[in-house]
Amino acid sequence: MRPVRYAGTLHVVYDALNSSASEVIITDRDGTIVYANPSFLRIFGYREKAEVLSRNAADLFTLQEVENFSGLKGIIGKVKGKSGEFFAQHKDGTLFPVEVSYSMVTDGTGIVLGMMASFIDITERKRFEDELRQSEGQLRTLSRKLFDSQELERKRIARELYDGLGATLTNIKYSLEQLLDDYPEEKESLEHAVSLVQSAIKDTARIARRLRPSILDDMGVFPAIRWFCRQYQDDNGGLAVGTRLEVQEEEVFNPLKTAVYRILQETLTNAAKHSGAHRVIVGLKKTEGNLIILSIEDDGRGFGTMDLNGKATGSDDIRGMGLTSMKERANLSGGCLAIMPRKGSGTIIEAK
Ligand SMILES: Nc1ncnc2c1ncn2[C@@H]1O[C@H](COP(=O)(O)OP(=O)(O)OP(=O)(O)O)[C@@H](O)[C@H]1O
Ligand SMILES: [Mg+2]
Repeated sequence: MRPVRYAGTLHVVYDALNSSASEVIITDRDGTIVYANPSFLRIFGYREKAEVLSRNAADLFTLQEVENFSGLKGIIGKVKGKSGEFFAQHKDGTLFPVEVSYSMVTDGTGIVLGMMASFIDITERKRFEDELRQSEGQLRTLSRKLFDSQELERKRIARELYDGLGATLTNIKYSLEQLLDDYPEEKESLEHAVSLVQSAIKDTARIARRLRPSILDDMGVFPAIRWFCRQYQDDNGGLAVGTRLEVQEEEVFNPLKTAVYRILQETLTNAAKHSGAHRVIVGLKKTEGNLIILSIEDDGRGFGTMDLNGKATGSDDIRGMGLTSMKERANLSGGCLAIMPRKGSGTIIEAK
């Protein structure tokens, strides 16, 4: 093959193009094919070079989604080069996905002689991408179902603890108090039994509230946040919690409430467990675009050697499930979760 207007083509370049695994064509200024390598012929379904040489690239195969590609003459000399994924047409008319990159061929003085385009058949890659997308979708559905059933289960167990075990313990307490009146001589041991039952009632209520606070369902996310923060402060003596809640209860879409509450719960638990903070500030606000932003700011030691995805730097080891499940909850609510270093010291976790 002798290129029409390219003078002095080195053999080594010609051999390299001929042996290339990418499909390569070279056209002249008008888009007429002056060179096509064996890979191109094979992938596009041509048997002989003669079938393509001297034909216009735009007439020979179409590329879907390429603006002006059929007007090949339109781009030659105007665009330096470009790459992208398109559908190319096989000789038999079928379409298949290719990655194309093309560039102008210029002489030493910058005059455009034509165009070189290389294609890679990405049918397999696209198939894998589709399969991956599908399985990601399935995983997302699965985790949504898991979160939902986990909440239902927690709600059910919390109710059984309250209404079942809690009510039974209360009855036992009343009966013991009754016995106190009937058997004053057993006062001491009966009073001891009453105080044990009393603390069992308290423990049952505490466990039930931690599982799923009924306040969240009965009164909403704001009372639940305030309740949790008070509880948290009591449990973590010395850790002050401030709140800046700048939205109204009715502005938080119902299905979001559980996600907001659970993210808050995990983030505050993490701050107490890992950060060594003295102060935590919980904020809830709404942006102009109607996004709800939950932020938790601590003045602790920051993520340190952990990267901000919660992985130990330089390792694939994910320590816990807390951050991962918060991210998943935020994603499932159509938002995202960001972990940022706080100015000075500490961490800001923001869920949109
Ligand atoms: N506020 C924080 N300040 C500093 N480091 C933090 C903070 N929150 C999380 N981390 C770091 O991120 C890691 C991952 O947190 P994550 O909640 O995913 O796991 P965990 O709390 O260790 O375990 P789990 O939540 O499963 O009980 C923690 O082990 C800790 O090193
Ligand atoms: Mg955690």
